[in-house]
Amino acid sequence: MGVEAVAIQPFFSMKDEECHARIRAAKEKLGKRLVILGHHYQREEVFQYADYTGDSLKLSRMAAQSDAEFIVFCGVHFMAEVADILSGPDQIAILPDLAAGCSMADMANLANVERAWAELNVMLEGKADSTITPVTYINSAADLKAFCGRHEGVVCTSTNARHVLEWSFSRREKILFFPDQHLGRNTAFKMGIPLEEMVVWDFNQPNGGLTVEQVQNAKMILWKGFCSVHQMFKPEHIDNFRAKYPEGKVISHPENAFDVCQKSDFVGSTEYIINVINDAAPGTRWLVGTELNLVNRLAEQGKAQDKKVHFMAPTVCMCSTMFRIDPQHLAWTLENLVEGNVVNQIKVAPEEKEMAKKALDTMLKISP
Ligand code: 13P
Ligand code: SF4
Repeated sequence: MGVEAVAIQPFFSMKDEECHARIRAAKEKLGKRLVILGHHYQREEVFQYADYTGDSLKLSRMAAQSDAEFIVFCGVHFMAEVADILSGPDQIAILPDLAAGCSMADMANLANVERAWAELNVMLEGKADSTITPVTYINSAADLKAFCGRHEGVVCTSTNARHVLEWSFSRREKILFFPDQHLGRNTAFKMGIPLEEMVVWDFNQPNGGLTVEQVQNAKMILWKGFCSVHQMFKPEHIDNFRAKYPEGKVISHPENAFDVCQKSDFVGSTEYIINVINDAAPGTRWLVGTELNLVNRLAEQGKAQDKKVHFMAPTVCMCSTMFRIDPQHLAWTLENLVEGNVVNQIKVAPEEKEMAKKALDTMLKISP
């Protein structure tokens, strides 16, 4: 290393076509030293360069299995952190634009969660650690995964949430689920837990805004977080679609609100949504409640079999942070690697890594 870094400024005004040529050339030069992982919400301009694409679970596994020196994550910050945690000590995880975060992940932080745990412990007469399993959605910072590791908890994704909740309930009677209340509620309800046994923990209020009795009677304590993209989808969008196309089917991501999921025919992760629509009969019509880049890709791919794929909301709602990974940042990142410079490395602090890995490894072990 020690070579002068390739500056980013010239890339800002570079046309996409030039970036594409540079990405292809750099990929070629880096060969097997490089693996590019791409989440399904990535825009087409960068998604096309991914060696592996997938949902959060699949990409975590890819990161753990890869032996490439550089793992470039076309996704958001927590995904690159997971790649760093699960890869070997000599592998380097990179996020082409450091501003690619996740607004839902930011809705829980370690200070809030530590405070909630302390308050719950008082409300449960000192029994938090013996009665509650903390479960964090993978959409969370590494220090929250480490919190779960320290308290015998676990991480989940939208694909394995049910398995993770079943495992958790087999060990302790309650779950503190953060940061996404919707994934927690939708999954627990499907397992037969009634809404009356779920409470929402409002992290802006003392004791989460709950009484001791509410906490003692609850099985699921749901963090008051949500995805800003999925909150745009409403039950009336489904009603309108069904009125116009009674034969159409509705499929949603579990980050959607409870009433949206209840009105849907199918609910599952991005990978699940892709598989269901790919396997559907030619000529079928679908309303899809998830991020726009993925829905546009499904609509395009469906044309060959005359499948009609509609986006659930009338307005454009794409994940603006996923969108930050563009050909300009990818070209800049890869050219630096060719020159021997590592830019935008995501490195989880060693004191968090061990416990975060414990919670992630538990998840991978119990996932089907
Ligand atoms: P999955 O791809 O795991 O379904 O998650 C969706 C998501 O919101 C990623 O941020
Ligand atoms: Fe986060 Fe929602 Fe974007 Fe996924 S779609 S990265 S949950 S803000």
